[in-house]
Amino acid sequence: MSVIRVGIVGLGRLGRTHAINLAENVPGAKLTAACSFVEDELEYAKRELGVIETYTSYEEMVDSPNLDAVCIVSPSGYHPEQIRLAMEKGLHVFSEKPIGLDIEDIEKTMEVIHAHPNQVFQLGFMRRYDESYQYAKKMVDEGALGELTVIRCYGIDPSSGMEGFVKFARSSNSGGLFSDMSIHDIDLVRWFSRKEVSRVWAMGKNAAYPELDDLNELETGAAMMQLEDKTMAILVAGRNAAHGYHVETELIGTKGMLRVAAAPEKNLVTIFDENGVVRPTSQSFPERFKDAFLNEIREFISCIKEKRQPEVGAVDGLQSTKVALACQKSVESNQIVEVK
Ligand code: NAI
Repeated sequence: MSVIRVGIVGLGRLGRTHAINLAENVPGAKLTAACSFVEDELEYAKRELGVIETYTSYEEMVDSPNLDAVCIVSPSGYHPEQIRLAMEKGLHVFSEKPIGLDIEDIEKTMEVIHAHPNQVFQLGFMRRYDESYQYAKKMVDEGALGELTVIRCYGIDPSSGMEGFVKFARSSNSGGLFSDMSIHDIDLVRWFSRKEVSRVWAMGKNAAYPELDDLNELETGAAMMQLEDKTMAILVAGRNAAHGYHVETELIGTKGMLRVAAAPEKNLVTIFDENGVVRPTSQSFPERFKDAFLNEIREFISCIKEKRQPEVGAVDGLQSTKVALACQKSVESNQIVEVK
């Protein structure tokens, strides 16, 4: 198998980034098919990315004899069924996070994934492929921080993305703030600590955008968590960072602490002008995690070629979603929720 032929479903806010990477930046991969409900997106894929086959039906795309793998970047509620369909057709699967929005559905999907051990399955927790997070992980694994006691995570989308988000949440279920946004931080907590979350207490507030009430969405949410070894995690998630895309992580251990992106800097430029000393901020997920998105999809293709499974798989999807749903339940009940 010299060139891996990939079909992508979803060419929206994130799908376009994966599509460009697969078409142009991943040696050994070829983007041969694309599926979307939006005709303009399919035209774009044909015209700009050289995609040969376009579909408005995912079922038809995975029936194509010209595919080895799929990249799923459709709205979250579709992921489980689309993963199962592709696996059953003998295709390798990369799926965006979250793996699903319903535990039973995810468990059913995991059974199908596990029944096809020779096909690669990878979940899109791209932060694990970011250079700074990998550096921090190595330090933690080598014991540089001692034993972890507290993990603090911020994941806040820019206010400028609110319009796009409202469109996204209107057209399909995002899963809510914790399944959509905090899921990355929950994965980081599990990845750094190698421990599972035992219980959570979460809350939320809509202040600048009360219209989010109608969509049953939160503008800002916070969660406090206890891990199985009593390590603590504090998460802040939101959709209203005035300054840009704010993803920050702090790890506190018995011998030291570290922060990844203590300020969400765009680059190494500092401006000195009438505003004072200014560091430009990163404005979006494709910008901040450009290299991570590329690294993760390159890893997917390498895994297919080298006949191995990636580090981040279905179990990580299931466990992180369990925690995210527990957070949602905690907001709704105003109770501490145990994670089973
Ligand atoms: P979007 O709403 O911008 O785009 C959705 C795309 O899916 C569109 O091309 C639409 O035509 C297509 N689509 C919808 N339903 C379909 C169906 N049943 N069959 C075929 N195509 C269908 O969505 P966005 O923001 O790109 O999100 C997609 C996924 O990516 C979500 O699961 C989201 O959680 C995830 N995501 C992950 C991020 C990350 O940081 N890793 C960042 C943003 C999104």
